[in-house]
Amino acid sequence: MPDSVSLLEPGRTLGVVGAGVMGQTLIKGLLDTGLVARRQIWATSKTQASCDEVAESLGIATVRDYREAVGTAGIILVCVKPAQIAAVAAMLRQSQLRPDALLISILAGVSSERLESLLDLPNVWVRAMPNTPCVVGQGMTAVAGGRGSSPDHLALAERIFSSVGRCAVVEEHYCNAITALSGSGPAYMYLMMEALADAGVRVGLRRDLALELVAQTMLGSARMVLDTGRHPASLRDDVTTPAGCTIGGLLMLEDGKIRSVLARAVEEATRIVEQLGRAAK
Ligand SMILES: NC(=O)c1ccc[n+]([C@@H]2O[C@H](COP(=O)([O-])OP(=O)(O)OC[C@H]3O[C@@H](n4cnc5c(N)ncnc54)[C@H](OP(=O)(O)O)[C@@H]3O)[C@@H](O)[C@H]2O)c1
Repeated sequence: MPDSVSLLEPGRTLGVVGAGVMGQTLIKGLLDTGLVARRQIWATSKTQASCDEVAESLGIATVRDYREAVGTAGIILVCVKPAQIAAVAAMLRQSQLRPDALLISILAGVSSERLESLLDLPNVWVRAMPNTPCVVGQGMTAVAGGRGSSPDHLALAERIFSSVGRCAVVEEHYCNAITALSGSGPAYMYLMMEALADAGVRVGLRRDLALELVAQTMLGSARMVLDTGRHPASLRDDVTTPAGCTIGGLLMLEDGKIRSVLARAVEEATRIVEQLGRAAK
């Protein structure tokens, strides 16, 4: 295993198969933190046009036919859509994939058992579920080991994703729920921020000021929960003075069934992730 400084053993590379939204997000994060040097990374996309675009914007090597590049890889991050995994597995089988190369899949819904049977090689898979705030070093990722994964494999994955935010090691059966909660989560937060900024405009604030107030309030509230370890309900009590305006606002949110709406949203997203995984043939 690599030493405490380098993520990769000498001469090894980190490959990113599928440099789309998430692939690029992770590459940017890893480069910014210095965990991997530019020369140690290569990436691939389906079309030459997107390979060229990624090479230009991130300053890394990109290859459309990655069979040769795979031979140097110590770690491969697989960031394609679930429907594209069979083509990727076929390509990896035709390449010089080293048996000790660690494969990390960020695919929603596709189990490690499915990944192992598609590839049909002895390589270890680790599943990871990151989210887009990885690009600003504030991601939330959960990682889970597949067949034959060791604490060292999980530690390696944890190092990668901890470099771009927080990372939790979980049992694989939680992955779909995590995808629906924190993988999709930024979209829920953005919707809430947009709605609250609209609310600010409704009560007379400039839109840019309203959005800044909302975004920083969300950031600060999240920090309070993470840093103090206090329950959100207890922190909320600190804001609600008797007969004050906050309790009035909170009661309106409860009248609108905000808790059950949020729970149903995550429940629906979980159901769809399960379907996506089953469709990944
Ligand atoms: N978006 C999120 O917030 C998020 C969060 C957590 C996990 N995920 C997971 O991340 C994965 C990628 O999502 P995304 O939003 O990043 O998708 P995306 O933007 O569509 O990126 C997919 C990438 O895969 C490339 N690709 C397609 N077929 C390929 C093949 N056969 N070989 C190599 N590369 C291929 C595409 O290339 P072209 O551009 O040339 O078509 C593109 O670069 C999904 O499995 C998703 O479940 C996404």
